[in-house]
Amino acid sequence: MNMKYTITTPLYYVNDKPHLGSSYTTIACDAIARFERLNGNTVLFLTGVDEHGQKIERTAESKNLDPQLHCDEITEKYKYLWDKLNISYDRFVRTTSIEHTSLVHQFYSKVLKSDDVYMGRQSGWYCVGCEEYKDVEDKDKSPICSIHKKELEWRDEENLFFKLSKYQDQIEKLIHVDGFISPKSRKNEIINFVSKGLRDFSISRVNLKWGINVPGNKDHTFYVWFDALLGYVSGSLNDQCSPELTEKSLSNWPANIHVIGKDILRFHAVYWPAMLLSAGMKTPRSVFGHGFLTREGQKMGKSLGNVLDPIELLEYGGIDAMRWYLLRDIEFGEDGDFQMRRFVDIVNSDLCNTIGNLLNRTITMSKKWFKENIPIDNTLSSDSTLKVKSEIMIIEYMESFKDRNFKSSANAIIDLANSANLYLNDRAPWKLIKDISNKNIVALDIYSVLESCRIIGILLNPIVPNLSNRILKQLNIDTSNINFKDSLQWGLLDPNNGLQDPTPVMNKIEFNEDPI
Ligand code: MSP
Repeated sequence: MNMKYTITTPLYYVNDKPHLGSSYTTIACDAIARFERLNGNTVLFLTGVDEHGQKIERTAESKNLDPQLHCDEITEKYKYLWDKLNISYDRFVRTTSIEHTSLVHQFYSKVLKSDDVYMGRQSGWYCVGCEEYKDVEDKDKSPICSIHKKELEWRDEENLFFKLSKYQDQIEKLIHVDGFISPKSRKNEIINFVSKGLRDFSISRVNLKWGINVPGNKDHTFYVWFDALLGYVSGSLNDQCSPELTEKSLSNWPANIHVIGKDILRFHAVYWPAMLLSAGMKTPRSVFGHGFLTREGQKMGKSLGNVLDPIELLEYGGIDAMRWYLLRDIEFGEDGDFQMRRFVDIVNSDLCNTIGNLLNRTITMSKKWFKENIPIDNTLSSDSTLKVKSEIMIIEYMESFKDRNFKSSANAIIDLANSANLYLNDRAPWKLIKDISNKNIVALDIYSVLESCRIIGILLNPIVPNLSNRILKQLNIDTSNINFKDSLQWGLLDPNNGLQDPTPVMNKIEFNEDPI
């Protein structure tokens, strides 16, 4: 059944250009979006940037730039990289847009109507990097943020507060719902946090110009998280030009999944649903908190000088290599380590040798022995061992993808390709063909392997769409209308379609020490 499916990346801070971490989340979301489209669903894929707050204000100041100009500059870098990575997003949210401001005001008036806002005093230790008050003893002297390794700043100011504590029971119920928080380890972490009792949190700031004004409170701007989370709603409204919070305009809401890093899970699994409940809106269906990437065992950071620039990685390995490695080698949900040697080895082994060579040598044999046509009528191939293998691997791929276990889905593809390679080696058609009476048997074998390649090409699509298209093009398949339901049955490769001349679909990456 065709379903509406709304998926979001986090809205990235524009304090700096995109890095490998933001690329990772976005590539994962793109794979899910493509997977859902191939399943026949109507997908709304949102990404965008989080542009307000002290962190951005200070960054712009340090560059002597007007904050809006600074935001525009960094936003362009995100859009540029997402295009280079072939991210199939439908909408790009900017929290400095007029439409978003209007939505924040409408939402706030709903929260006010629920009597969930009051003026209070907030004092405590604040991390500008996280844009968050930290749980440290007030009397601590110069505490450090465990994430940013920077000194926290003491704050004591009058803020508007949101009555989070009022939603204790509802949030407690929600976070226990099966599938709301994944993976399981993170669910437990949130259950533990909520069980200690929710405290109201401040939703406005004084003395901060770079934010959305709070109606009725002249000196206050909205706390950047209150504003940013609402970007998910402003991006999903039907009419982007005249944003109105009505039932009709919210037909893409709630989001089916917010994919985020583990660092911002509380905001998404606790604060955000409570804000929505207060406004009388539906809560998201699920939140997935993935792990963090390190590089060669070390946290990436400017001070260590080991930040891996995604643009440089793209130039070195190419888009398919980058997407494949990140989704195939790193357990989604767990922390993962980027290793250059492994990156090169995995890509060369999986994409060049196992898949690329399989396609190349089979097309070469087919053309040599059977000229333009793909051999054999497809009905004859129904008992192929590769048919059985592909059916098993398709099921494994689908189930793993639904669990967001990209690694296991990728393994299923490689498993099928390995089987096809083994099959060729066992059958040795290059020997059989020497006796002309074996021609029909050889035809059947070649057909089976080419058909496996077609299925591999389709299954690769959400993970490495560019490579998938190159593979299917060699098999002369129109890629514009592919969907899983109609394209994954065995025997659909049409013998009359012919094959393109074989050219390598993936070039090897040369390993050199310290390439980037
Ligand atoms: N602006 C907020 C999100 C607001 S959503 C309404 C924010 N932005 S961020 O740019 O700092 O980080 C966004 C996300 O980037 C993190 O949650 C995580 O998904 C990703 N990553 C940042 N560094 C990362 C790694 N080193 N590894 C993997 N992902 C990490 O928080």
